[in-house]
Amino acid sequence: MKIVVIGTGYVGLVSGACFADMGHEVICVDKNADKIDRLNKGEIPIYEPGLEEIVRRNTTSWNLSFTTDLAIALEKAECVLLAVGTPTDEKTGRADLQYVHAAAKEVAENLKDVAVIVTKSTVPVGTGKEVAKILQETRPDLHCEVASNPEFLREGSAIEDFMHPDRIIIGAESIESKNIMQRLYRKLIGEGVPVLFTNIATSELIKYSSNAFLAMKIAYANEISDICENVGADVSMVIQGMGMDNRIGGKYMQPGPGYGGSCFPKDTLALTYIAKDAGSTTQIVESVIKSNDERKLRMADKIIAACDGSVNGKKIAILGLTFKANTDDMRYSPSLSIIPKLLDAGAKIRAYDPVGMSEAQKILTQDGIKWCSDSEDAISSTDAIVILTEWDAFKTLDLQQVLADMSGNILIDLRNIIDTEQASEIGFKCVTLGK
Ligand code: NAD
Ligand code: UGA
Repeated sequence: MKIVVIGTGYVGLVSGACFADMGHEVICVDKNADKIDRLNKGEIPIYEPGLEEIVRRNTTSWNLSFTTDLAIALEKAECVLLAVGTPTDEKTGRADLQYVHAAAKEVAENLKDVAVIVTKSTVPVGTGKEVAKILQETRPDLHCEVASNPEFLREGSAIEDFMHPDRIIIGAESIESKNIMQRLYRKLIGEGVPVLFTNIATSELIKYSSNAFLAMKIAYANEISDICENVGADVSMVIQGMGMDNRIGGKYMQPGPGYGGSCFPKDTLALTYIAKDAGSTTQIVESVIKSNDERKLRMADKIIAACDGSVNGKKIAILGLTFKANTDDMRYSPSLSIIPKLLDAGAKIRAYDPVGMSEAQKILTQDGIKWCSDSEDAISSTDAIVILTEWDAFKTLDLQQVLADMSGNILIDLRNIIDTEQASEIGFKCVTLGK
């Protein structure tokens, strides 16, 4: 099938490359000419394990190409996927739909023939109808069907998630759009991946409800972790014990410095407005947002407390800046809340991340941060080390050497990846979560 993907970011690029790998002919379109240039030279603009190989394989076989020219891309399109961003509108807190609306209009203006227009971006309930209206108003001569197909991939494991999803959700309200979506996913359906067909509003809401539920599990685990610290319980055992109940499950219960990323923070907030607009309430989701926002700042207080109540003038190594491991994405990373608070308290930060350095430097522009070349450089002569992201490289640190390179001995592990018993024996003063 001939597919055009609009927006070549984390979702558009991964979806385009994977659909090409499934045998479709895919053209990825982006307005960002620099991104398209780089892709045409074989460079991958984001860090995503396995993506470079799949892009190379499919560009070589001519199944996958990249362009800024929407009109040419759409010439023979049977299915157009909208995968543009839906960030938080900072003024209203709602999902900002300007990119979806603009993309829908541009597609309508350039379409040569009827195609099914599929929203893959995460969009509030009612957006599918808005896209249909834009198409109808812009091109009354073409009757294009719309569909909703939310994406559930995670950054860092995007290819695996896309190729082996737990389920495919399709919001389609006509035979034509259902048929096209079935052809699009023929390979995965053939492999036994469950598909749920719904109306468009239901499909749109499944996406937000899923993200908010996962965010709620994490926020809950973080609150249980705090209780553990005050009552002498061990959070890893509490979660293990809870997770043994199949009704609960142990996934998304790992305590951390607060969830971040381009989706949980924005989608939980957007869901509260979807509810408000519908005359419903979302007390649970609102509490999750508050709990998570406060947690990120409280982690800075925890670091200060671990440094004997003050970080003023102290050198602190920050290991890990991205919101999770295996991505260079810095959007809503806990480091963006924690580092400024430590700087305000007078800390001198030595920061290092295995792949997120250049993204981090664009956002963390305050004075007082020394950007380090590796973890050894970051650790050198510091009073304390803080692990903010669970990169594998930090799990295998030579703790004896680390202690020798530091001036102090404070180790704050906000991902619980270090063997603190061993670290304490060596001479570290360890602070972890939920123990
Ligand atoms: P992104 O910001 O990485 O990429 C969006 C891309 O769209 C950019 O390259 C931008 O230049 C391009 N773009 C914007 N308007 C355009 C237009 N009119 N024509 C062509 N290109 C245009 O975004 P993302 O992280 O891939 O997210 C996209 C959507 O998918 C969002 O709604 C997000 O919530 C959802 N989503 C993201 C993830 C994830 O892991 N990042 C997972 C599931 C769902
Ligand atoms: C999340 C969802 O998991 C995807 O299903 C969804 O498609 C995506 O959002 C989206 O809509 O964009 P992602 O944000 O890439 O994916 O990463 P996750 O692995 O879910 O982690 C999100 C945040 O939660 C990270 O900050 C992570 O460190 C944190 N987390 C996750 C925890 O603190 N504890 C956990 O147990 C799991």
